[in-house]
Amino acid sequence: MDRKEFLSSIGFSAASLFVATCVGSCKKDSVSGPTVDFTIDLTLYPALNNAGGYVYLNGVIIAKTSSANLIAVAAACSHEGANVQYQNNNNQFYCPRHGAKFNTSGAVTQGPASTPLKQYTVTVNGNSVRING
Ligand code: FES
Repeated sequence: MDRKEFLSSIGFSAASLFVATCVGSCKKDSVSGPTVDFTIDLTLYPALNNAGGYVYLNGVIIAKTSSANLIAVAAACSHEGANVQYQNNNNQFYCPRHGAKFNTSGAVTQGPASTPLKQYTVTVNGNSVRING
C-alpha cells in the first residue's frame, strides 16, 4: 500500500486537509490592525483640531474626542474590513457597512463584529503626534 492509498483508506483527502487548515484561519471576523509607528504634524491635519474630527492614515483612524484627547484604533472594521467612522456625539467608532460599534478603546459594543479594533498609543508633544502599536 502506498502513501496515497493509506491516506485514502483512513478517509484522509486533499479536501480534508484544506478543511483542517481553514478551520482556524478562514474565519471572516478576524481582521486585525496593522503594526505602525509614525509621527504626524498636527498643523497639517486641521480635522484633528476640533472635537469629532478624524483622519485615516496608514490603516489607522485618529480621532479627537470631546475631551480633547487624540485616540487611534485600526481603521478597518474587524467584521469585514470597512472603514469605521468616529461619532463624537456617542464617543464611539461606528461601522457604516453593517452597524458594528466600538468604544474608544476599540472594544466591540455592538455586533456583528466580535473582535476588537486594535488600539494604538498616541503621544502628543506640541504639534507632533506619534502613533504606534
Ligand atoms: S464590515 Fe463593519 S460591521 Fe460589517
